[in-house]
Amino acid sequence: MEYNFSKDFFWGAATSATQSEGTIAGDNKGENIWDYASKNYNHRFFEGVTTEHTSRFYQEMEADLDRMAALSFNSFRTSISWSRLIPEGTGEVNPEAVDFYTRMLDGLNQRGIKPFINLYHFDMPMKLQEIGGFENREVIEAYRAYAKICFDLFHEKVAYWFTFNEPMIPAEAGYLHDRHYPYVVDFKRAAQVLHHIILAHCEAVKVFRQGPYQGKIGIIMDVIPVYPRSQHPADLKAAEMADLFYTRSLNEAILKGRYPQELKAILTRYDQMPRVEEQDLALIAETTIDLLGINYYRPRRVKAKESLPNPEGVFSPEWFYDDYEMPGRRMNTSRGIEIYPHGLYDIAKKIQLKYGNIDWFVSENGIGIQGEETFIEGGQVQDNYRIAFLKEHLIELHQAMMEGSNCLGYHMWTFVDCWSWQNAFKNRYGFYRLDLETGEKTMKKSGLWFKEVIQKNGFSNEF
Ligand code: BG6
Repeated sequence: MEYNFSKDFFWGAATSATQSEGTIAGDNKGENIWDYASKNYNHRFFEGVTTEHTSRFYQEMEADLDRMAALSFNSFRTSISWSRLIPEGTGEVNPEAVDFYTRMLDGLNQRGIKPFINLYHFDMPMKLQEIGGFENREVIEAYRAYAKICFDLFHEKVAYWFTFNEPMIPAEAGYLHDRHYPYVVDFKRAAQVLHHIILAHCEAVKVFRQGPYQGKIGIIMDVIPVYPRSQHPADLKAAEMADLFYTRSLNEAILKGRYPQELKAILTRYDQMPRVEEQDLALIAETTIDLLGINYYRPRRVKAKESLPNPEGVFSPEWFYDDYEMPGRRMNTSRGIEIYPHGLYDIAKKIQLKYGNIDWFVSENGIGIQGEETFIEGGQVQDNYRIAFLKEHLIELHQAMMEGSNCLGYHMWTFVDCWSWQNAFKNRYGFYRLDLETGEKTMKKSGLWFKEVIQKNGFSNEF
């Protein structure tokens, strides 16, 4: 069986500024919440590794671009670090950052690698977090101004812009589930943050459409497909609620221009409605995107609740469902998540059937493995599991495309093993291994496999 993709299919990988760049003395980067949290809440990060110790993209950018070219990438996503470009979040632009990003974009374009540039990947400048981050409406204006500066500076070099990576995460992880700084646990505040992020997205799209810029603009979302334990009405209801809170709340605002009605009814009933002004809804309604990125790692399996939530506890979507551990599910034990390639097909069909078959691409997909050094043979990580993972997901994607899904590309997470929120370097995802002792970057077996796929624009089942 041959799996062929269109000749202009986007092949590449994704990373983010904070996870890859690192800092060096004199780079004039301002502090962001991750620089701050990884130092001041160091115990929350695997082996206490801070943002200073990433894969050194800032210093080794040219060599890293050569490494991408060696994999035959035709596209690559990273983000601009807001606090590198504008150290205080507003005001003065950092000339070193302009120089760095200019060289990066030129370097990518010269190598025939299209830059996919994201403006925000979880990394709020600390100065703006001090006034409340996205909880504060003023920060929407700061973000709009930052986006405009990026468009003005780099629009001739970038054809694909993205406003946010996974907008749900800063709200959910930072304001409800105690995973990201500022470690607030309060649903209503999380909902406020999400609403303001959606408005910031709309403002950036608006400023982009008003300016003399070419190119396309979109957003990157992690759409976790929800599966009920059974067809019992209570399980179906549980799935409906998980989907409403974690997917439809955001998807429908971005892709349909309105929040789901049911959400407002529930939040009002539980006194959890954030402040939403009349003009906000009009702005959401008039905003459209050109290209959607989907990050897919895992399914969400749910069942009806087995016990009542504590009525005096913290309100959360988990009041309406329990996670379900399906017998025999296939796990990635390093990260504690299920591997379910068919979920990618289901997402593709949902975009096709429910969201107008908008142009989209897989903006992240990948498998993080702990202890990859044990798979080194002859100096190379023999990551057959990653090749199998890639293949299985590409086969599902291919099937959906054969059935009419408008998928334009596939980006793997990630290019070189990178630092991660909380897990730092625990789980490795890259096509290149990063040796933390020597700093050496060596191509894994999956890198070679992916390169051949790109060169052939597909693969056969035997390969
Ligand atoms: C995605 C994020 O959700 O998952 C990335 O966009 C992140 O930034 C990736 O690194 C993998 O997650 P983790 O926590 O295993 O690094």
